[in-house]
Amino acid sequence: MAEKILTPNNHIISGVIEVPGDKSISHRAIIMGSIANGTTEVSNFLNGEDCMRTIDVFESMGVKFEKNGTNITIHGKGIKSLKKPAEELYFGNSGTTARLLLGVLAGLPFQTTVAGDESLSKRPMNRVILPLREMGARINGKDGSEVLPLRIEHGQLTGIQYKLPVKSAQVKSAILLAGLYAANSTEVIEPTPTRDHTEHMLKAFGADIERNGLSTKISGDNSLYATNVTVPGDISSAAFLLTGAAIVPNSRLTIRRVGLNETRTGIIDVLIEMGSAIEITNSSIVNGELIGDVTITYTKLRGINIEGEIIPRLIDEIPIIALLATQAEGTTIIKDAEELRYKETDRIHAVTDVLTKLGAAIEGTADGMIIHGKTPLSGGEVSGYHDHRIAMMASIASLITTGEVVLDDDSSINISYPGFFQHLDQVQN
Ligand code: S3P
Repeated sequence: MAEKILTPNNHIISGVIEVPGDKSISHRAIIMGSIANGTTEVSNFLNGEDCMRTIDVFESMGVKFEKNGTNITIHGKGIKSLKKPAEELYFGNSGTTARLLLGVLAGLPFQTTVAGDESLSKRPMNRVILPLREMGARINGKDGSEVLPLRIEHGQLTGIQYKLPVKSAQVKSAILLAGLYAANSTEVIEPTPTRDHTEHMLKAFGADIERNGLSTKISGDNSLYATNVTVPGDISSAAFLLTGAAIVPNSRLTIRRVGLNETRTGIIDVLIEMGSAIEITNSSIVNGELIGDVTITYTKLRGINIEGEIIPRLIDEIPIIALLATQAEGTTIIKDAEELRYKETDRIHAVTDVLTKLGAAIEGTADGMIIHGKTPLSGGEVSGYHDHRIAMMASIASLITTGEVVLDDDSSINISYPGFFQHLDQVQN
């Protein structure tokens, strides 16, 4: 536990900065590089705790990694040559490691047991277990439970057609990864688009995968071939600094080389609809992923409604959007976001608690929140709920509070944004 006291100052947010690599893409690069044939070079990898758990898991199964800062060389073992780990695999706090790895482990010819920390052990895994069982996987929890710890025994997988009942890229990805090991093809149909990094990366690694609207089909008995991956900056991390600039008058900030995949840019759409001035320059495509530089200039903000298909495109940004909305004129209503209750913590509860303590007018609802703006924020003592995105939201709030923000513990921030406070210092001028 490390308490953090954030003292207000009158600095504006300005400058040019690059945020660390994308968490979702970093996980996928490790997974695919490990099960590919040959050597994969990853650059701008996110050295955050969650992604380290994914590396640990593959190291325990015999994959060799060479690390040099944010560059990682992966000596892939091929899809079926991972070795049985000597011990239980530990996923820590990482939902992405857990869900995606269940898809891979289900296809391997040996038994594994997997576990996570206290928060991860409460998060729903049945959304992944049920379709994998339909494919022939044998995954069981203690006394019939469907949360971690779990035991995965070898089962011969067959492809299925699966209509996703939840809007979840992690579930979609788990099924597609299991599909690599199945005897015939697997098709996943989504209710609305969710982040599609798995699909882009499977293609880049040479898998036979076909997309058609909301359907993605992958052939069975697929192999992956090593390729090089450059990870774009994480838009979910950039969102915190962009919001800082959006709420501190006279700010102007540029974030370079950030991922702009449209399944992730709901935050940009929200900033624009609320009235922020956003410019996107230097766009290019890297490994099938759009990247570019984003510049935001402070303007007055207005409240908006956020609901429907945009929700999966900004699900991780809702905590920081709630803070943004406290500084917008009028009411912001967020709906259709019940999934927030199943993240690292119940984020509807955590966001409303923290922002209320800081002086905001916010109410939680069953599937979202209602924020009445614009309210001055006072400061106060808050909990980060051991959730990186809640701790960063509280820290960004301190840019506009009249008094100190005392955050009980800032260590969770290393999950997705090591160096967050150095960057925050760097852009306060
Ligand atoms: C992720 C998908 C999302 C997101 C999480 C990362 C991924 O979760 O919230 O932070 O990398 O696939 P869900 O699939 O549960 O929506």
